Amino acid sequence: MIEASSTMIIRKNQSELVASVVDVLERHLLQYLRDKHVKPLGLATGRTMKPIYSCLVNRLSHWSNADLQKLRTCWLSFNLDEYVGLGEGDAESFRSYMTRHLGDPLYLSPLQLRIPDGRANDLCGEASSYGKELERLGGIGLQLLGLGNNGHIGFNEPPCGPESSCRIISLSDSTRAQNAFSFQEDLDNVPKQAITLGIQEILNADEVHLIVTGSEKKDILQKLMGCSPSEHLPASWLLKHPNFYIWADSDAIPPKHPINELI
Ligand code: GLP
Repeated sequence: MIEASSTMIIRKNQSELVASVVDVLERHLLQYLRDKHVKPLGLATGRTMKPIYSCLVNRLSHWSNADLQKLRTCWLSFNLDEYVGLGEGDAESFRSYMTRHLGDPLYLSPLQLRIPDGRANDLCGEASSYGKELERLGGIGLQLLGLGNNGHIGFNEPPCGPESSCRIISLSDSTRAQNAFSFQEDLDNVPKQAITLGIQEILNADEVHLIVTGSEKKDILQKLMGCSPSEHLPASWLLKHPNFYIWADSDAIPPKHPINELI
């Protein structure tokens, strides 16, 4: 169930929702200009995030050159996940996605846009050092998340407990089908494994923002809004987080749900 510590924010359509999320992101990034020790930003990939990154790039283009330059020198983000076997130079990798949507437009280096190395020889070692490096830096400040159709966040597939940490995971058939759009809709090309931050690292973030847009997310959002934290719906662990925000557009809200009256 949506708890008192969770906040649900609904907007009429995707573009209004994106603009509101970017307001929050922009305010957060302004802290980088003022404070020396801001925690890393937690970033996600997927279709939901594309308009958010494009709006953010546009918003930042209105900053002064001096502020932008300062932001570029302080930027540090950690992505949630990467496919095993893919990396820089593979168009379908999350590394390429981040370079395309944020790295190139904002002139950020791969060292500032951290992402697990899906092509590491020692994948377990890579997962462990990625998680430890994040911990060493104090964990995530603001975490952005998309929602998988089966309730996964990052690539934390159900069943998944709250103690899970950065690791290698086998992807479910439904998740591979959901992501086949990036692989010319050919399921055989979708990797079977990924490296993902765990629920533990996500819950350690100071604030968590789950973005849910489009009618295909209606069923899973309804389940999330009505359930108690459980390993069967990994996103439900977020309901225990003291600063948890669900951002949804009206397409993602079940039509007869009373929350629609708040729009
Ligand atoms: C993917 C990714 C997540 C993403 C989520 C939702 O499998 N691992 O990082 O947020 O599922 O994807 P989409 O936004 O395309 O619906």
